[in-house]
Amino acid sequence: MPYAISAPEGPDDEDTDALLPASLLAFLPCRTPLGWIEAALENPELLLIDHAQCEKKAASTAMSLMYRYVDRPLLLTKMSQLAREELLHFEQVVGLMEKRGIVYRHIKASRYAERLRQQVRDEDPERLVDILLIGALIEARSCERFARLIPYLEPELAKFYRTLVKSEGRHYEDYLMLAERYTNEPLEPRLAVLRAVEQELIETPDSSFRFHSGLPVSRREQRASVRVG
Ligand SMILES: [Fe+2]
Ligand SMILES: [Fe+2]
Repeated sequence: MPYAISAPEGPDDEDTDALLPASLLAFLPCRTPLGWIEAALENPELLLIDHAQCEKKAASTAMSLMYRYVDRPLLLTKMSQLAREELLHFEQVVGLMEKRGIVYRHIKASRYAERLRQQVRDEDPERLVDILLIGALIEARSCERFARLIPYLEPELAKFYRTLVKSEGRHYEDYLMLAERYTNEPLEPRLAVLRAVEQELIETPDSSFRFHSGLPVSRREQRASVRVG
């Protein structure tokens, strides 16, 4: 059993907040709902498979920025470091899956990253700033979700997630720093728009459970909606 619940009631927000930088908590528009944590503990295999997918995707997003923005040395260095770290995380997740006998299979991506990407404006420099701000949001959310899960996990996975809280927290800072560097406009108005989209994706019902999914729809509700639909 890859996951174990360590406390009958679970920790409260203050316990897990201690694992996260205050600036990161303030950056996110909301906390992960408890319903998502319950679904994660019920779907450990799916969580790890989707986690592996997310690490791979994070590396590929960083690499596509390296292809497009070759004239920005700081971006190239930061994205190259980030891509290497994400690929290392990918290898670590695949290793943990193998150890637990979890078969890696193709699964559909969650709505989360796709819906956020739909917000990206077409022309540069707005396009770049949007991608960087969305990168910061995704990294910050990943960091927050790892921290929320840690108190419930068996020691090996909890230890791994603790290392991820640190590195995804760093990635959040790097994306935000790059967004500030590559714009002359104040970031806050655009960030407010993107944060509102992110909050909706986290807090509204989501029919498929994934690492970045929204509020889980219970099986009973799913059956009812199939009957009604
Ligand atoms: Fe990662
Ligand atoms: Fe990351």
